[in-house]
Amino acid sequence: MKISGKIILFIIFICQCIHHSPAFSDDGYELWMKYHPVSDALKLKTYRQQISSIMVSGTSETCQIIRDELKNGLNGLLGKKVPLTTSLSRNGLIIVGTLENLNMIKKSFDTKQLLALGKEGFLIQSGKVAGYRCTIISANDEIGLLYGAFHFLRLIQTQTDLDKIFIISKSIIQYRLLNHWDNLDGRVERGYAGRSLWKWNELPEKVDGRYSDYARANASLGINGTVLNNVNANPDILKPEYLKKVAKLAEVFRPYGIRVFLSINFSSPISAKFHIERSRRAGIGDLSTSDPMNPEVRQWWKDKAAEIYRFIPDFGGFLVKANSEGMPGPQDYNRTHADGANMLAEALSSYSGVVMWRAFVYNADTDLDRAKRAYKEFVPLDGQFRPNVFVQAKNGPVDFQPREPVQPLFGAMPKTPMTLELQLTQEYLGHSTHLVYLAPMWKEYLEFDLYAKGPGSTLAKVVDGSLFDYKMTGIAGVANIGDDRNWCGHFFAQANWYAYGRLAWDHTLSADQIANEWIRMSLTNEDSLVLTIKKMMMGSREACVNYMTPLGLHHIMQPDFHYGPGPDHANAPRLDWTSVYYHRADSTGLGFDRTTSGSNAVSQYFSPLREEFNDIYTCPEKYLLWFHHVPWNYVMHSGRTLWQELCYKYYSGTGYVDQMATTWALLKGRIDSQIFQHVTDRLKKQQKDAKIWRDTCLNYFQRFSQMEIVGK
Ligand code: GCU
Repeated sequence: MKISGKIILFIIFICQCIHHSPAFSDDGYELWMKYHPVSDALKLKTYRQQISSIMVSGTSETCQIIRDELKNGLNGLLGKKVPLTTSLSRNGLIIVGTLENLNMIKKSFDTKQLLALGKEGFLIQSGKVAGYRCTIISANDEIGLLYGAFHFLRLIQTQTDLDKIFIISKSIIQYRLLNHWDNLDGRVERGYAGRSLWKWNELPEKVDGRYSDYARANASLGINGTVLNNVNANPDILKPEYLKKVAKLAEVFRPYGIRVFLSINFSSPISAKFHIERSRRAGIGDLSTSDPMNPEVRQWWKDKAAEIYRFIPDFGGFLVKANSEGMPGPQDYNRTHADGANMLAEALSSYSGVVMWRAFVYNADTDLDRAKRAYKEFVPLDGQFRPNVFVQAKNGPVDFQPREPVQPLFGAMPKTPMTLELQLTQEYLGHSTHLVYLAPMWKEYLEFDLYAKGPGSTLAKVVDGSLFDYKMTGIAGVANIGDDRNWCGHFFAQANWYAYGRLAWDHTLSADQIANEWIRMSLTNEDSLVLTIKKMMMGSREACVNYMTPLGLHHIMQPDFHYGPGPDHANAPRLDWTSVYYHRADSTGLGFDRTTSGSNAVSQYFSPLREEFNDIYTCPEKYLLWFHHVPWNYVMHSGRTLWQELCYKYYSGTGYVDQMATTWALLKGRIDSQIFQHVTDRLKKQQKDAKIWRDTCLNYFQRFSQMEIVGK
């Protein structure tokens, strides 16, 4: 019996549909690039008419990656074979190429716009070439083509209409990096998804297949750089044997447009024999000092930079944690952060490398209030850094707490490009156990108005360089990725990787929009389910704030582990590592007085913010206990007293988690069974642990308020 090609394809399609039906198992490895067949029959039919074949001009590795991605993606999504071609002979061709390579489209398409798109931007446009209906994906550079190809696939994955399509997209932020806090022994600092992806003991001989999968996932979002190792850096990373391994990773990442960066230890030039206690680790050099003004030290770094660039010609630069939490730095020699950063910047400058110098410093001598210290140390240095230095600060003035006001340093360094450091790994937001979608939090920070140049001076405008006309711009996300099969531990933590990448590319996207994309690409395209899951995600961060640290509370977690509650934590080597230092609960009330009559941290903000925060009546209640010590009987906007409101918030946080668990249970049989079970198990634990947070905190604070817990 003869079976026609059409019937064979139909059978393949049905098999694919069955394979991807909810009853089958998804271990999460494919992230948001699953390319399941389009579920809407009408849309599928239209796409099949609109897309017949793919033509990618160019012979580089990147072009080959584009070919493979489009071919696999479209074959899966359309459930039909979409062949590669080199000629234009029918409708439905997807033409991919740089303007340089695509003479044929110049006449038929409006490519003027491309000129403004830089190296990484792309254009997707439908139209006619030589009488045939086509879609072109064009860019000035092949990396732009790769980003365009991923975006085109995203449009189909999210079942977007391709008719008369015209999209131009360009990132405003130049350096869009992940920061891995991975140690050379395979452990990940604050890592909750297994061990490090980097198998240092196997490299450079053995190249794990996950390296290119990792690069591919990042490229699908537009992430263009990665810092491979922990900021608490082991100097060994700069030894030649490690540089060879790093070079191998760089080679894998290069065709995906990803450059490699390294965290360095400031005492690297010091010989082991001169090891001094405060330098935390002996270095790898042969010097007795790492004083940035010492000519031998400066030469050591120049030689090291030359060596690195011999191994990795497109090396991105250094990330530096100095004079923070015991790490060595220029202050060990009475030099400033600028002295240290500039020495490294000088060594990298002839290779176009950059230094990302972290402002996560909180030397106790600087100020009694930890929240004020970075600002006080760095503002006087504005204007003193070399042009290839970024100062990198975390979003808030303390650490990555569930909620903080924005680090005021961001509005106060007009002459120094600043990178914003966000944390994907949920160090203080339930690790990889709690479902917490972080995009609403990041948007809250990005849209925070610093008033540095009057109203509208948002953090986003500082970061994208438009407020102060920075010559370089950057954003960093502390990675939540490990060698767990599903990459991030919690399936929903993948949404945070996705959201970070999308926001780094375009911070104007909304958290809702990004969740919508991610759900459609990773879970389901069924509208009602998308809405249900999105609703769960969108409120999850506020819920986490409520069951952990409502109303501006912060840093009241278990010491070291940072998972559970520890409001009574009072004994630590430093006062600012305790919880009591931050919440200041006593019989009169709760909260840290940072007003003009307290630590005066409010003065680090521009008017009218400082006045608004200073006044208990105008201070937004979400920051109330951050800035004020508030009497237990103080009446809140709701009419409840502070104590009642605190109880109410804790209970509403745990209530939300219960609600998420109930909602999720209703999805049984409607989404993939393995994902369903995985999330069900984690939600159960989250329900339990959120209540532990609530009860521990309320019982503890009750000792001071002496009031009855309400809202049970
Ligand atoms: C926090 C975190 C540390 C990390 C540090 C940093 O303190 O708990 O593990 O090293 O931040 O960002 O440098």
